[in-house]
Amino acid sequence: MKKILIAYYSWSGHTSALAAQLQAFTQAETYKIDVPAGTFSTDMYETSDQAKAQRQSGQLPTLTEPLPDVAQYDVILVGGPVWSGALSTPVLSFLAALPDSPAVLAPFYTDAGDAGNYEADFKRVAGAHLVAPGLDSAHPRVASAQLQRWLEQFN
Ligand SMILES: Cc1cc2nc3c(=O)[nH]c(=O)nc-3n(C[C@H](O)[C@H](O)[C@H](O)COP(=O)(O)O)c2cc1C
Repeated sequence: MKKILIAYYSWSGHTSALAAQLQAFTQAETYKIDVPAGTFSTDMYETSDQAKAQRQSGQLPTLTEPLPDVAQYDVILVGGPVWSGALSTPVLSFLAALPDSPAVLAPFYTDAGDAGNYEADFKRVAGAHLVAPGLDSAHPRVASAQLQRWLEQFN
């Protein structure tokens, strides 16, 4: 198994549950993508408006935790919720801060059933990184067999 980092953002807990499942399978180190308290409303619709404004202005939220030394990882699993068919702005902040490295990036994401253009959006902002096929789930938990199948590409 290659050396894996699991980096994830979660607004309401679904993606963090999936990240925990992936961690249990891989024993990988984790990095919680976090933004300052008060960055987003507790209301989903207001959060959606805030995220759209951030995207439009390019003023992405700051990350509260310094990035780990990503040079030591072969694979970075990058988790987040689908927001308006695309990446959440904290995940955009993470990818913007990520230095170029030979690491392969692999998106995993949770949604309410409509992932929109999530993976295309991810590839667009992944810079020079190679991007592996992602894992999409409309539920916070994924069947173990599906997780294993997805992780096999990193053996
Ligand atoms: C701002 C916002 C926008 C969302 N946009 C979508 C969407 O476009 N498609 C969808 O299926 N679900 C959408 N959702 C639902 C979330 O993607 C879904 O609940 C996800 O599992 C939440 O993950 P989290 O708990 O890790 O934040 C949206 C939720 C929020 C808060």
